[in-house]
Amino acid sequence: MPAAMLPYACVLVLLGAHTAETVAGRGHLPWEPRCQQPLPDGAHVTTLLPPRLDGPWVSTGCEVRPGPEFLTRSYTFHPNRLFHAYQFYYEDPSCQKPAHSLLMKGKVRLRRASWVTRGATEADYHLHKVGIVFHSRGALLAVAERLGLSRASQDCARRLPPAGAWLPGAVYELLGAQAEQDCAAALGFTMHELSLVRVQRHLQPQPRAPSRLVEELYLGDIHTDPAERRHYRPTGYQRPLQSALHHSHPCLVCGLVSHADEHHPPVLPPPVALALRLQGRWVSSGCEARPAVLFLTRLFTFHGHNRSWEGHYHHFSDPACQQPTFTVYATGRYTNGTPSAKVRGGTELVFEVTRAHVTPMDQVTTAMLNFSKPGSCGGPGAWSMGTERDVTATNGCMPLGIRLPHVEYELFKMEQDPRGQSLLFIGQRPTDGSSPDTPEKRPTSFQAPLVLCDEMAQDFPILLPHRPLLGKPPSGGGPRPPVAPLPFLLLVLGLAFLGWL
Ligand SMILES: *[C@@H]1O[C@H](CO)[C@@H](O)[C@H](O)[C@H]1NC(C)=O
Ligand SMILES: *[C@@H]1O[C@H](CO)[C@@H](O)[C@H](O)[C@H]1NC(C)=O
Repeated sequence: MPAAMLPYACVLVLLGAHTAETVAGRGHLPWEPRCQQPLPDGAHVTTLLPPRLDGPWVSTGCEVRPGPEFLTRSYTFHPNRLFHAYQFYYEDPSCQKPAHSLLMKGKVRLRRASWVTRGATEADYHLHKVGIVFHSRGALLAVAERLGLSRASQDCARRLPPAGAWLPGAVYELLGAQAEQDCAAALGFTMHELSLVRVQRHLQPQPRAPSRLVEELYLGDIHTDPAERRHYRPTGYQRPLQSALHHSHPCLVCGLVSHADEHHPPVLPPPVALALRLQGRWVSSGCEARPAVLFLTRLFTFHGHNRSWEGHYHHFSDPACQQPTFTVYATGRYTNGTPSAKVRGGTELVFEVTRAHVTPMDQVTTAMLNFSKPGSCGGPGAWSMGTERDVTATNGCMPLGIRLPHVEYELFKMEQDPRGQSLLFIGQRPTDGSSPDTPEKRPTSFQAPLVLCDEMAQDFPILLPHRPLLGKPPSGGGPRPPVAPLPFLLLVLGLAFLGWL
């Protein structure tokens, strides 16, 4: 969607040129008044550096991975670095019909602060064991069929019982002492998500009660192209897990997932079905990180009566979204939605981007735009920091990877969270930085949800100042990247550029 138009979208809030200074200045949240809420003092997000993984972590809902695959996760890390983890897979997008479960045992070691994804920590992991349990004969057949497709994995398929001999509850080893071959790999399974970690804390205010501590574990993203998954090292995150001990309330799913095991996979309650009603303003609920490393906040407005949309993408150089680099304002039209056949519960739409405005928000971006090829980004004339310019006449802004007009094939979904807040899920961007500009490239999974402005509850942690909780860098960490480093930004912009040509 709109997000689309930018290789990595971003935005926060609508900052017109006249309000841009507010963002650059300290002490004001860059939210447009209608979306702005006085933030309770305790709502600040803190990042634990080095991250502390110990304890049980669980999914807070039914997760969708590219494919699509529907799953819930329950991971437990022990102080001796060993972990055991469950991934429960389902046939349906509401996680109500368990198909099979994977159980993993292994070891994980934190390495150093990531130089690629600021604010993240890199880790190494080793899998000792991977087992699979089938919850139906059909699930066994489906996996056996996948393994039987390639010659390399046919031996793995033979290790599974014939469907007639399926025993409910039996654990089959895919990787471990008894398996000669890594059949987990043959199935396309990896735990590369463990190679990028981040732990965040915030306080969730409670009506008439003390605030609750909420801990979130961000693990590496899953490549949108299944063929790339075995090799891809994450640079962004997937939907966070929450601590089973310190999660937001209420969270029925947290309890179900944390009490589940391979013989008792969690069956989630039926979702509150929401028809897709885009009308209104939708904002990021926090600072979003994208693979290839952009940090951004987004704000979208949908006008249902004339099928037009507006998007504000606010880009930042830091993981707390405190150092703005540039803002893009884009507008266009969108089509009627049709139910997705591939991702049940999702709606397919087509977005068109017809106008765009750019506001450089720091010296580096201003200078870069100043020196860009004439006619490649806006008409003649110099750029100055904080001043918005229309780039429609030059068909976008090549140095920032924005090309107009532009069409994107989108996947949307709406849900209600346990607090009754409406959430809007927009399709995940292709990990390779390209845009879903053909129907074949339409997403099959989702980004972090946006929340409806008017419903934004007080306790939603929006764009909060981040501070490391412990001042010291992770052990073994080298020098941390400087704040808003020039080469870094150019790298980001360069990548965006390539992604769009
Ligand atoms: C659609 O309506 C909105 C609000 O009424 C207006 O701001 C916008 O310019 C309109 N867009 C188009 C393309 O007509
Ligand atoms: C951009 O160009 C204008 C005019 O040449 C100049 O005044 C301004 O300082 C430049 N800004 C940057 C950040 O290079």
